Amino acid sequence: MEKITLNIDGKEITGEDGMTILEVARGAGIDIPTLCYHEKLEPYGVCRLCLVEIGTPPRTRLVTSCVYPAADGLVVKTRSERVIQTRKMLLELLLARAPGAKIIKDLAEEYGVTKARLRKTATFCILCGLCVRYCAEIKKADAIGFIGRGIEREVMFIPEIATESCPPCRECFPLCPTGVLESNFRLVQSLLFKK
Ligand code: SF4
Ligand code: FES
Repeated sequence: MEKITLNIDGKEITGEDGMTILEVARGAGIDIPTLCYHEKLEPYGVCRLCLVEIGTPPRTRLVTSCVYPAADGLVVKTRSERVIQTRKMLLELLLARAPGAKIIKDLAEEYGVTKARLRKTATFCILCGLCVRYCAEIKKADAIGFIGRGIEREVMFIPEIATESCPPCRECFPLCPTGVLESNFRLVQSLLFKK
């Protein structure tokens, strides 16, 4: 693999061609928050919490670091004012969706977000897709999937597959950032699962 060098937060950081910005940054011990990223899964780029600012003023822009390819000479800021403000906004939204989730509460506290200003119905699922992707990509079971679009979008166990596959597996439960997956499983368990 060809070596590349990025400037991240003012430091020269070396990575390899083919890595994302997130991988290079984390490899150097630079903390970037993530909620939908998992190193064993294909990047999904949906929570947007990992956003960073790239380029040099006045030509800079925000990109999601878990999907954006690292490139030689790229200038990256992981905690610029613009990044912090956007992360705060995202955390307000996430807090409204999943008010009790520890990881979100901790991040909100770190970024000085005290309450969800946005009025959203708490669904407790942040649609990160970790459960769906883990089941599809690692377990090759497709026992859980997304249904609906827009604000109707939600995660659902697929009864025909889940009745057999889920009870002995449950490997996706610890991946869920909000814990709602296991709660939902318990709710539908009595209806769907015999084991
Ligand atoms: S149930 Fe949990 S893991 Fe699955 S999409 Fe929702 S928040 Fe993510
Ligand atoms: S971790 Fe990058 S978008 Fe969620």
